[in-house]
Amino acid sequence: MNLQHDRSAWLHGPPSVCQAQPVHPRQCRRLVLLGAPGVGKGTQAAFLSATFGSCHLSTGDVFRTARQCGRENSSPALKDALTRMNRGELVTDETVLEIIRERTTCLACRGGFVLDGFPRTVPQADVLDAHLGYEGMVLDAIISYELPLPELVIRIGGRRTCPVCKAVYHVDSRPPRTPGACDTCGSKLIVREDDQPDAVLVRQEAYQRNTAPLLEYYAKRKLLVHVDAQGTPEEVFARTITALGDKR
Ligand code: AP5
Repeated sequence: MNLQHDRSAWLHGPPSVCQAQPVHPRQCRRLVLLGAPGVGKGTQAAFLSATFGSCHLSTGDVFRTARQCGRENSSPALKDALTRMNRGELVTDETVLEIIRERTTCLACRGGFVLDGFPRTVPQADVLDAHLGYEGMVLDAIISYELPLPELVIRIGGRRTCPVCKAVYHVDSRPPRTPGACDTCGSKLIVREDDQPDAVLVRQEAYQRNTAPLLEYYAKRKLLVHVDAQGTPEEVFARTITALGDKR
């Protein structure tokens, strides 16, 4: 695993700390990725993180890590969060914001960040705004990835993920070099529990209901860039860099 992006502080929360300092602080970006489940946010976050040196901060990864580490029963709020996640529903703002409060050092990191999955509601966006304002920081851009529903379903249907380093693959469009094993760390790839058909539909509805309103929220602030997510991950990334332009 790349220690420069080990994300321990984010994935595990306090008292965990990251093993290495950010490598390209002068290039750092503070970005938020929006887009329906399966559009490719995690995939693009990995490209952006490798390019700018800013950590990929996914709230979904925080919850999945908690489950893998057996923290499911450590608090009623976490147990409720993991149950909701399995069903494809959003976790409550209260629980998400508690998770974020424990990780504010990651948002203040001089390496910047690529936020994936947070904020997901207007109250969450207000908290992020207030926190960054307190730290004297601003967001560089909000990237909204867009793809028709049938293609979202195909992408989610073939997804395989690494439970250890969180790398994302697809059985057809982005297969690992060795079937079933992570290219980066060799761990056995898994199918996410919320990638079952019932939960996938609930997740798409939750996105339209709760997260799509953020597009207007950020458009009003002139921070929003739209990116067509069709094509290969490399093509989408090239489009992302063009769309970002001089936003920083
Ligand atoms: P989260 O983990 O954030 O999941 P999500 O938003 O549903 O997004 P996904 O991870 O499913 O998709 P993605 O857009 O990252 O796509 P990927 O790159 O993997 O959240 C999960 C759950 O946690 C939520 O449902 C909720 O319960 C809870 N939660 C988290 N944060 C929360 C919050 N703030 N508030 C409330 N609840 C919260 O790509 C998908 C597949 O497509 C992969 O197989 C990939 O290889 C492939 N692919 C990617 N790009 C391409 C391409 N260009 N061409 C072909 N294939 C591609």
